[in-house]
Amino acid sequence: MNPPAPDSFCATAQAQPNIALIKYWGKRDVELNLPAVGSISLTLDQLWTRTKVCFVRVAGADRVRINGRTDAVSAQRVSACLDLLRQRAGVDWRAEVTSESNFPLAAGLASSASGFAALVRAAAAALELPLSPAELSRLARRGSGSAARSIHGGFVEWDRGACADGSDSHARQLMPAADWPLRVLVAITTTAPKEVGSREGMLHSADTSPFYPAWLTAQSGDLEAARGALRTRDFEALAAVSEHSCLKMHALAMSARPGLLYWNGATVEGMRRVRALRTQGLPVFFTVDAGPQLKVVCEESALLEARAALLELEGVHEVIECGLGEGARLLETAFGGTS
Ligand code: PMV
Repeated sequence: MNPPAPDSFCATAQAQPNIALIKYWGKRDVELNLPAVGSISLTLDQLWTRTKVCFVRVAGADRVRINGRTDAVSAQRVSACLDLLRQRAGVDWRAEVTSESNFPLAAGLASSASGFAALVRAAAAALELPLSPAELSRLARRGSGSAARSIHGGFVEWDRGACADGSDSHARQLMPAADWPLRVLVAITTTAPKEVGSREGMLHSADTSPFYPAWLTAQSGDLEAARGALRTRDFEALAAVSEHSCLKMHALAMSARPGLLYWNGATVEGMRRVRALRTQGLPVFFTVDAGPQLKVVCEESALLEARAALLELEGVHEVIECGLGEGARLLETAFGGTS
């Protein structure tokens, strides 16, 4: 006699947030979440999202808990992403999702990047779908653009692609973390949720900023400069092009109508401080995403001094220290009775 078929298919995966050095801002297709420009990021180590997905053999509404809470908007995004995996597997099973992160959500720390990368990795394993990293990255992209990059570790490039169906828009690793073990300090300047999310902010910038066409034209040059700096481990060159990309992205947001201002006072003071340290010869640069947290990238030799300088700033609540980390990975699977 055959053993009874399992009723539940569970898998748990972990992914880490990534920080863009050459920013993604603007979409060429909203429905498929295709970026208007390519981007380059680094994946962090200390911050993580761990997500357990259990599919149960019955139809019905998914249950989604993120950091112990249920929120209808996030649940809807999670279900829409899981639908893509269910379609692939040819099932309509209900999912139970529990996700925990060890950092503040929705505060410009790319929780959606680690969240959707972990979700897709876990769901694919639970459904026993043998997906390549490129396929996982394309699926994660549908949940949140930057999640495409958190499938990989180290230094990562997400290609804009040219195909209308998005088949060539996925991330790939440029260089593993060990090849250039830079450090990242995340200065927390608020734990409040951001006012305008990146999705809304980039659509608004594309629609109303007079600088948007110039942004699109210049991106391939910035990507090339960053790839070159990574290849030759040229910190000064990486610092220059990364700060340039960050400030340009914020210039788009600020020049939208009405303008979006993601920074607070501590963000600005932090940027000034980092620039002053670099002038003194310290290998350190800043970047800021769609929120007021300041991310500072440095060589190991500059870590202590940079950290102390950030902690001295009024309005900096905490400084989280990270290295470069791995891509999304499976932690466990369990197939069995109803969970
Ligand atoms: O993928 P989203 O919607 O989280 O947008 C990310 C936008 C930025 O973080 C500001 C830039 C980037 O490339 O990650």
